[in-house]
Amino acid sequence: MPYPHVLLSAAVSLDGYLDDTGPERLLLSSPADFDRVDEVRASVDAILVGAGTIRADNPRLLVNSAGRRAARVAEGRAEYPLKVTVSGSGDLDPAANFWHTGGEKLVYTTDAGAERATALLGDTADVVPLGPVLDWRALLAHLHDGRGVRRLMVEGGGTVHTQLLQQGLADELQLVLAPLLVGDPAAPRLFGPGAYQGGRLRLTGSRRIEDVVLMRYEPTAPGTGPLDTAADRHWLRTACELAALCPPSETAFSVGAVVVAADGTELARGHSREGGDPVMHAEEAALTKLDPADPRLPGATVYSSLEPCAHRASRPVPCAGLILAAGVRRVVTAWREPDTFVTAADGSGVLAAGGVEVVTVPEYAALAQLPNAHLPH
Ligand SMILES: NC(=O)c1ccc[n+]([C@@H]2O[C@H](COP(=O)([O-])OP(=O)(O)OC[C@H]3O[C@@H](n4cnc5c(N)ncnc54)[C@H](OP(=O)(O)O)[C@@H]3O)[C@@H](O)[C@H]2O)c1
Repeated sequence: MPYPHVLLSAAVSLDGYLDDTGPERLLLSSPADFDRVDEVRASVDAILVGAGTIRADNPRLLVNSAGRRAARVAEGRAEYPLKVTVSGSGDLDPAANFWHTGGEKLVYTTDAGAERATALLGDTADVVPLGPVLDWRALLAHLHDGRGVRRLMVEGGGTVHTQLLQQGLADELQLVLAPLLVGDPAAPRLFGPGAYQGGRLRLTGSRRIEDVVLMRYEPTAPGTGPLDTAADRHWLRTACELAALCPPSETAFSVGAVVVAADGTELARGHSREGGDPVMHAEEAALTKLDPADPRLPGATVYSSLEPCAHRASRPVPCAGLILAAGVRRVVTAWREPDTFVTAADGSGVLAAGGVEVVTVPEYAALAQLPNAHLPH
């Protein structure tokens, strides 16, 4: 299911708080950083905050720069990004600034909350019930498919950020660290307790902006079940991009593969015909770089742009067999093998029969097919 790119944006104090407990919103960013946030807002299709932030801060969530709004319009986009909130209760103050500024507004809620939200808001906002409980994947799929949102900026609060990160749905975190301390345990924190990815996130950039520091992170740890996560999609995209490195061939697919440990550490990568070996497959190229006794292999995920092969004339063991022998228990792939060279190859079936969780992410199939466009269908 395609989702928008989800960017979590927040500012925190040195002791990790989003706010204090006073009646006024605590200003954590510097003026130049507020302008950077304005620029990010201008770049996205939608901005989301939880109902708690509307209650606590009464934000407008606008693009303040007239120049940036004009540029959006010149590109054929709405002047303001769509404003989105989530509320289980539907208990939303119709006088809040959120509803009376900017462009279109959308409320995601539960079946029960929808009745209350509609009664309170009338036609000020579209109210979308998502069932008895609010499911974030359903919300993101609806934003993508129903509202055409490709980039979503999430501006808090902590309850919302925590769920999106814990559920593996955040593609990126833009975090500003402000040089002040709150020191009140009753104040809201950026991330609450619960299960997060193990290991370290990837730091993709950092920058001083007046007296605050902006840090950008991406989650790295593979998902653990049948659903793909933002980190899975990152690694699968890497595998697809590796396929572009393959020496061209008329008789074999160009494929890329990455092996990633449970904590998000990249263990190995490979691509077809690597090292000048005309029959080398991508998964094989990656796995042969690893010690078969590496204790991280059973918890690792293999990302392959094309599903691992199930039959092979050129070697005694196909890639599905190599993965099973390595003890890997999860494979994420973009593209099921077509009948180009082998009829009804079913590497995914072989892996599943061997107890491997195989996750196919068809939205990356076109990228995986790109270096194979010259092959007969
Ligand atoms: N420093 C920053 O960058 C920043 C940015 C934003 C906010 N903040 C601060 O964050 C604080 C607010 O954070 P918060 O955690 O209290 O609130 P929040 O995350 O903004 O919103 C939480 C509310 O959203 C709804 N919600 C969230 N997940 C839901 C789910 N799975 N199912 C149903 N409803 C769901 C619920 O609304 P209902 O109660 O209506 O059911 C819930 O009470 C404020 O103090 C604000 O100043 C700081």
